[in-house]
Amino acid sequence: MYIQWYPGHMTKTRRQIEADLKQVDIVVEIIDARIPIASRNPDIDAITAGKPRLVILNRADQADPTGNRSWATWFRKKGWSVLETDAKTGTGINQFSQVIQGVLKEQIARWQEKGLVGRPVRAMVVGIPNVGKSTFINKVAKKKSAKASDRPGVTRGKQWVSVDRSLELLDTPGILWPKFEDETIGMHLAFTGAVKDDIMDVETLGCHFMAFLGEHYPQTLMQQYKLPEVRQRMPEENEVAYGYELLCACGAKRGMRISGGEVDTERMSRVLLDEYRGGKLGRFTLEQPPEET
Ligand code: G4P
Repeated sequence: MYIQWYPGHMTKTRRQIEADLKQVDIVVEIIDARIPIASRNPDIDAITAGKPRLVILNRADQADPTGNRSWATWFRKKGWSVLETDAKTGTGINQFSQVIQGVLKEQIARWQEKGLVGRPVRAMVVGIPNVGKSTFINKVAKKKSAKASDRPGVTRGKQWVSVDRSLELLDTPGILWPKFEDETIGMHLAFTGAVKDDIMDVETLGCHFMAFLGEHYPQTLMQQYKLPEVRQRMPEENEVAYGYELLCACGAKRGMRISGGEVDTERMSRVLLDEYRGGKLGRFTLEQPPEET
């Protein structure tokens, strides 16, 4: 997936979602618990307004448990239901059906009053690439279906997936793009590997990530890269400069030198991002819920 913005494709997705919305009872929005802001397309709120919503905080195993709790509270305050999952191992998945039934309890009771017994709940599943949508759907449906292409311009057919007699899922028609409203969003998507590193040079990306770790998880840097101490960033200090200092310190500890003795900060950046994505650094939540005004 590339960072370029494809407004035309998003328009197509929006129209498809709008058209299919009439057929569903609830919208299930899958987001990446590590980056709940960057991994959402906020346009979904307007497109699906009026439909009950269940937010799936997927990749909960990769995010900070405290962060998961804060985000769950924040989404619940918006009136949405929340379920934390790890679609890879299946943690939380077996509660999905039950949570859906709970959210739509009154609707289901009304169906029963009308004699519509046995009508399955129909849920539309939306999510930007890399949140784990395919893995989630396959786990819920206990299937291993082929992953539809994420390439822009490749049209996918409508995908109804039957979970059991009481639940059917509609996989998002089209690709839901992230919304690159600012550089931070692109950067967070790059940290997690949702977009390619080439949105900015890898060294700058590494500096920003180091700065995040230095400020929020200094212990991790001390343990992983054997730094004796990590100082906090000064209030006015430039984030990149602070991250660069840490990158140099970690690279030196790992013996990454280029000829002349300088630390190979580019290599250290790649190592840092690889180790993070490979789960070697721990569980971090890269974004905090916005303060309510
Ligand atoms: P997408 O449809 O939203 O684009 O994402 P997809 O399901 O293809 O998942 C992308 C990668 O993320 C997969 O790993 C998948 O196993 C992993 N993944 C999905 N959900 C979770 C989760 O909750 N926790 C963790 N830790 N990983 C998750 P992959 O490396 O591409 O494949 P594989 O190694 O699983 O074969």
